[in-house]
Amino acid sequence: MYVCLCHGVTDTQIESAIDNGAETMKSLAIELKVGTQCGKCCQCTKRVLNKKLLQIAETQSQVA
Ligand code: FES
Repeated sequence: MYVCLCHGVTDTQIESAIDNGAETMKSLAIELKVGTQCGKCCQCTKRVLNKKLLQIAETQSQVA
């Protein structure tokens, strides 16, 4: 699903960037340019970011 239409960024690309170490909106903006033009994708990007970070945290707490 496209999250950022201005830069053609999908939720899968955002999740991959998070898997590769991006943990903030700023780092996603630097890496993928999401939210750097009209800004309409910021809320959706934040939802994808928070959901993914929660998944990572839950996975890590199960391992620990
Ligand atoms: S839709 Fe992402 S900056 Fe416009």
